[in-house]
Amino acid sequence: MKVLVVGGGGREHALAWKVAQSANVDEVLVAPGNAGTAREAGVRNVAVGAEDVEGLLALATEEGVSLTIVGPEAPLAAGIVDRFGAAGLKCFGPDAAAARLESSKAFAKDFMARHDIPTAAYAVVDEVEAGLRQVAAMQFPVVLKADGLAAGKGVVIVEDEAQARATLEDMLSGQAFGSAGHQVVIEEFLVGEEASFIVIADGDKFLPLASSQDHKRRDEGDRGPNTGGMGAYSPAPVVNEAVHAQIIDQVIKPTLAGMIADGCPFTGFLYAGVMLTPQGPRVLEFNVRFGDPETQPILLRLQSDLAEVLLECLDGRIDAVELKWDPRVALGVVMAAGGYPEDYAKGLPISGLDTDPPAEVKVFHAGTALDPDGQVITNGGRVLCVTALGDDVAVAQARALHWSAQIGFEGAFYRKDIGHRAIRR
Ligand code: AMP
Ligand code: GLY
Repeated sequence: MKVLVVGGGGREHALAWKVAQSANVDEVLVAPGNAGTAREAGVRNVAVGAEDVEGLLALATEEGVSLTIVGPEAPLAAGIVDRFGAAGLKCFGPDAAAARLESSKAFAKDFMARHDIPTAAYAVVDEVEAGLRQVAAMQFPVVLKADGLAAGKGVVIVEDEAQARATLEDMLSGQAFGSAGHQVVIEEFLVGEEASFIVIADGDKFLPLASSQDHKRRDEGDRGPNTGGMGAYSPAPVVNEAVHAQIIDQVIKPTLAGMIADGCPFTGFLYAGVMLTPQGPRVLEFNVRFGDPETQPILLRLQSDLAEVLLECLDGRIDAVELKWDPRVALGVVMAAGGYPEDYAKGLPISGLDTDPPAEVKVFHAGTALDPDGQVITNGGRVLCVTALGDDVAVAQARALHWSAQIGFEGAFYRKDIGHRAIRR
């Protein structure tokens, strides 16, 4: 069969690479893909944009695609699953109604309040003065979140009133975030260690994936601005058996039950970003898709046939599936373009990609493209995710860093401390 992967980042390279290994998969199409998927055996890029739902439907129909896997949130929020479903095509992910868990932070917070799912105290405002009154009643730091999809940049932690005012004005003006900023969620600042908990869900049934942790801040020591993610590793030792059970009982089960009660059952990858506080897990955010870069280390460890697992889920049998994992740790280091997460250059040649890495290492591409001569060039802020397996976090980190040093492009930077919390443990 043919499988279509929608998207063109590191997550989609990992999904396409993994699905191409499935026994029953003849070919994987990626729309639009990147240089990494272009060079992967059994994988073909197609020049259709990830948000062009009609173009993707035409592609899947013409090519006789049996399963479509959606990487990013935007096409899910735009209703790609509804559209494919109406055309009788299998498309893995939530419909637009269920995708609101990610596409509207106000919806997600009200949903959690309604269903007693633990999360930070919050208020939703749509004008600056009301926001400042709310902030005045709280203790700094305070977290401000633009309501809509903002590619990981819609969250600002403010330290004082002047910063709160500037951020509220920026978000609510509609200039920086467009319609994503019509409402702002104001949230209590939580302290603890973060973990990413992702399950494959089908209504009330679900299958947890291996735990993981990503590093969202740009700089070492988890400092600097928030990014889409500078690296990740799996498993996350902070998610021990007790924490695992708590997250399932207090977050995953009530979320799936709440979505059913609200008339929008959830199918797809459900990603809970949780803060593990001394009072227990608190949901920071929901994503309605696999994480990027968490996908890269998680799939490097997955030994089961992913296409088969997702088809089982779409056929209502996800609870019968057992996943097999490589017991080793996987750790991915993101190589980013100079200037990211602000402005950065594109089109810079990347060296060091023609030598095959050792068996324990996989270089997943994110923002890359091929120029007309077949040279791999940069094409985004997060350019590569160098991912490695190791018997422990330190070994996996050393391998990923060693291989990252073999690769170069002008202005490249990456964090050398991915996994530091797990190493310290
Ligand atoms: P989000 O997109 O909501 O996950 O926010 C991005 C990042 O901001 C999270 O991964 C956290 O590191 C941080 N963050 C978000 N909400 C809070 C909060 N209530 N308290 C502390 N940190 C937060
Ligand atoms: N790594 C966080 C995300 O995918 O949103």
